[in-house]
Amino acid sequence: MSRATAVAVGGSFSTTARRRRELAVPVRCSLSAAGLAAVAPILRDLKMKCDTPLPVLRHVADSMSADMRAGLATNGGSDLKMILSYVDSLPTGNELGLFYALDLGGTNFRVLRVQLGGKEERIIDTEFEQVSIPQELMYGTTEELFDFIVSGLARFVEKESTKFHLAEGSKREIGFTFSFPVKQTSIDSGILIKWTKGFAVSGTAGRDVVVCLNEALVRQGLDIRVSALVNDAVSTLAGAHYWDEDVKVAVILGTGTNACYVESIEAIPKLQGSAYGSGKTIINIEWGAFSTGLPLTEFDREMDNESINPGEQLFEKTISGMYLGEIVRRVLKKMAKASTLFGDSFPEKLSVPFSLRQISFIIEEYILNDWMVIHPCYHETETMTLSTPHLCTMQQDDSGDLDKVGLILSGTLGVKNSSLGARKIVQDICDTIVKRGSRLAGAGIVGILQKVEQDSIGQIFQKRTVVAMDGGLYEHYPQYRHYLKEAVAELLGVEVFKNVFIEHTKDGSGIGAALLAAANSKYFA
Ligand code: BGC
Repeated sequence: MSRATAVAVGGSFSTTARRRRELAVPVRCSLSAAGLAAVAPILRDLKMKCDTPLPVLRHVADSMSADMRAGLATNGGSDLKMILSYVDSLPTGNELGLFYALDLGGTNFRVLRVQLGGKEERIIDTEFEQVSIPQELMYGTTEELFDFIVSGLARFVEKESTKFHLAEGSKREIGFTFSFPVKQTSIDSGILIKWTKGFAVSGTAGRDVVVCLNEALVRQGLDIRVSALVNDAVSTLAGAHYWDEDVKVAVILGTGTNACYVESIEAIPKLQGSAYGSGKTIINIEWGAFSTGLPLTEFDREMDNESINPGEQLFEKTISGMYLGEIVRRVLKKMAKASTLFGDSFPEKLSVPFSLRQISFIIEEYILNDWMVIHPCYHETETMTLSTPHLCTMQQDDSGDLDKVGLILSGTLGVKNSSLGARKIVQDICDTIVKRGSRLAGAGIVGILQKVEQDSIGQIFQKRTVVAMDGGLYEHYPQYRHYLKEAVAELLGVEVFKNVFIEHTKDGSGIGAALLAAANSKYFA
């Protein structure tokens, strides 16, 4: 059985009773009638425009299916790239030996090693380390980024203990999970199409990212073979399928978002009859680029215009963790300008756009266990602004005075004594934006399921089908999970929904990449 050992997770989480006292934020008596009157129409309009009743969801699900088909028919046929992953067979359980994985996809990268023991012993041991990527590297050069990653990998490899064994005559192999749109050219090569999620590293787009990694490995003298390049959705599907063969779809909901699924070769006209052994392959949808029928508001449009990739990744900008907090900030800014929601003076910090560096959801995990540990983050940087983990913490607040909401408004926006009325409105806005995002994500999932079902009647809806979910947003945001599942159930109806299991898969991505490295090993048949 799997025995995961977290070697290191960054951050300091000390809490003291003294801090608790220091952090009490007084609640102002009430929001004035005039304040409320100015805010009400903005809130009403927001709710109306973000509403996702069944017909809206149905339109999104149907458009997702149609765009998938168009993207499978020809390259550029729709917003959806429908990228061939070159993963034509999923791990079987027979994989044996020591394998590494490197996971780059957000503000942290992870390295992992796993000792695979075949059908009987499965995962004998695994260890991982997580390293935060300095912000300047997200805008630096390809060499700087890859050198940084490889130096982290090298330190990790050095610490390999005797619990792990490399088979005689073989060298270390690694599965590289690279969570950005890549045009795969084989299982171990692929060209970066563009950066997403706030990365703007120069010189990588248009290059084979495995070559970039190999060059850095050579520069640092690390002898390790990259045997698989995979997207995080694809490695999640592989990792989850290893334990459960009914997994047909994987979805990532974290800083960014994506989905992939198992497709029949005959359903991919753009392959033009190229031979594929197993008759199936995993398609990386890159669904973050989807844009049809989304209920968008002025706040979404402004955010998109000011982003580093205007007009792109619209689904991602509506449903994923990097953007939800920023949308809420924009709504609050408008309200605070039009009213006395936060008192007589406008909180200047409301004008600070989202930092590309979001508080990691790892920190959020601790916040949920003990919310006071959010305190150190507030002092981490002056520009810390409202982000999705804050929305999550505020939505969990069921205290009479909404203390946590008050604390976050004070810590992130400098609103020192918000009224209870204002705190309730803030909670309501968070709920509106998160509900829209999660229900649309649910509609996207139904779009994938119904597309496959239409092509192979009974194969999805009439038997157990598992959708593997990963990503901090899904993992740590209870309301998001709830609304997403509710939307899937509404769209599918009770009977079909009984067969569809939406399951969180913890660390499927890391293990999945190592498994795919094993499946494509040069040393193991
Ligand atoms: C990327 C995808 C990735 C997803 C989740 C998106 O921004 O384009 O490739 O799978 O984020 O990490």
